[in-house]
This record gives sequence, structure tokens and C-alpha cells, in this order.
Amino acid sequence: MKIAIANDHAAVQMKDLVTAELKDLGHEVLNFGTDTEESCDYPDFAKPACEAVVNGEADLAILICGTGIGMSLAANKVKGIRCCACSETFSAEMSRRHNNANALAFGARVVGEEIAKRLVSTFVNTEFEGGRHERRVNKIMELE
Ligand code: RB5
Repeated sequence: MKIAIANDHAAVQMKDLVTAELKDLGHEVLNFGTDTEESCDYPDFAKPACEAVVNGEADLAILICGTGIGMSLAANKVKGIRCCACSETFSAEMSRRHNNANALAFGARVVGEEIAKRLVSTFVNTEFEGGRHERRVNKIMELE
């Protein structure tokens, strides 16, 4: 799978850790930055990573800021993105199975390294169930 990844200054180390985990799992990672801890604005990095998903360059996006909240809010403004901010694996799994989320956001100041690795592996390894959930997701997209 091709995974777009983006982060702000609060999550540079976490992005590197998650990138290594995704590569270990056999995925290709497209890095949209930032790669420095200089203060920056997370929407500037959420936008290109989400656009990569919408235009088919990437299959899924992983977005990391301090809390995951800003990144998820920004991502959900990009037409075609369904982003969920998750800090535990049950929600990350269900965001794929039931909501067909195509972006996961989480906070580098919220979850530790081991939870972060499990969040991303769960997210990328879980398929959408379709069926009745497809109708509901379609109704979400009609709200755009
Ligand atoms: C940056 O300090 C912080 O506000 C940002 O990383 C994020 O948590 C916003 O939602």
C-alpha cells in the first residue's frame, strides 16, 4: 500500500517511528513533512497528504500533530477525505471497517510509541466491510 504521511512540529519523531513501522510492514510511505521542529501550521501539511489520497497517489493518509485534533479537522475539509482522530486501536479498526476512513489522525502528545505503532498497523491492515455501512458512508459524503 502507499501511505501518505504528514505531521507538524509536535510529531517529527513520531512520524519517523511510524514511517519505520509502515516500511517494516511492507508499505511505501510518501512523506509530506514537516521534517523540522520549527513551529509550523498543521493544515499546510494535512492538505497535500490528503490530496494525495483523493487523487489516487496514495491509498491512505496518516496525520500526526500534538493531539490529532487539528490534523483531523483540517483533513476533513478536503473533499473526499474521511479522517478519524483515534487514540486506541478499537476505534482505528472500526474507522476502517464501518466508516471507510481514508485518513487516520493521532496525537504524538497523546499516545506512546507502542500504541502509535499498533494504531497505524491496525488502520492499514483493516478493510472496509461495505454492505449497510456503504449506504451510510455514501450519506456522509453527500453532506460535502
Ligand atoms: C501545536 O502546538 C499543536 O497545537 C498542534 O500540534 C495540534 O495539537 C493541534 O491540534
